[in-house]
Amino acid sequence: MSKDNRNEGLWEEINNNRDFMKCPDFSKTMICSDQEKKLTQPPLSKEAKGEIIKLSADFDDAVITDSYKELLDIRRSIRVYDKKAAMTQNQLAFLLWSTQGIQEIKGQNYATLRPVASGGARHPFETYFIVQNVEGLKPGVYHYLPLENIGEKRVAIRFIGDFPEHKKRVTNMLAGQKWASDAPVVVFLSCVAYRAEWRYSVCAHRVVLIDLGHVGQNLMLSAAAMGLGSCCIAAYDQKLCDDALGLDSNEEYTVYVCTVGG
Ligand SMILES: Cc1cc2nc3c(=O)[nH]c(=O)nc-3n(C[C@H](O)[C@H](O)[C@H](O)COP(=O)(O)O)c2cc1C
Repeated sequence: MSKDNRNEGLWEEINNNRDFMKCPDFSKTMICSDQEKKLTQPPLSKEAKGEIIKLSADFDDAVITDSYKELLDIRRSIRVYDKKAAMTQNQLAFLLWSTQGIQEIKGQNYATLRPVASGGARHPFETYFIVQNVEGLKPGVYHYLPLENIGEKRVAIRFIGDFPEHKKRVTNMLAGQKWASDAPVVVFLSCVAYRAEWRYSVCAHRVVLIDLGHVGQNLMLSAAAMGLGSCCIAAYDQKLCDDALGLDSNEEYTVYVCTVGG
């Protein structure tokens, strides 16, 4: 097969995407970033609206693996879940904290330090999750509030709303992947684009995707460390996911999905 036969009719789009993966000239674009122009910095995390629920968060109880080597050996994508096997609050709390928890705030609310690296410490993500089976939590859509539990041994979340027709809707949201609708929890990461654009302007989006891989790996390793399975999902329906989470699809939109459970 000659190169000309590959990706027939799609070369313009493919080349644009290939170029997007290459490193842009940071020195040129950084000069005109909104941070350089001294525009107001966006909030470090989304505002906590509504009732706050504090999960028990005994991480020592949740993590059962104490060998890092063993952890790397056991992590696999798992697509079979027992939807009747509830996750504990400790497990959910550790999952959330280890992916996006805030350990420290730097400067005058300038940056957060978290268990994952992030370009310019912007951490341009929010974490949402659909609960099917977690001990003591009613099923529905939730949002993690990492700023609410600084210095506390609790993990704060808020309930967004019920999620009727769970099986059908999760399957449709995840491009027909029916197995995913058995997962006790489905985690969604959204990108709050301006948090990264404020600092990196047109260079932001590639950096965000690099950040995202780090967040996802923490999520999957944490699940494995607690004896749970997980599977990250790139094939999802953008609009259905954004609508289910109440995102506007421009300032904030879904960028990552991962099922978790036993
Ligand atoms: C970016 C990315 C997207 C993925 N999307 C899907 C998906 O939509 N559906 C699925 O079943 N698995 C998905 N996977 C899981 C891969 O198929 C899996 O990681 C791969 O087969 C290797 O297996 P392992 O994770 O057990 O090592 C995805 C993995 C990655 C890293």
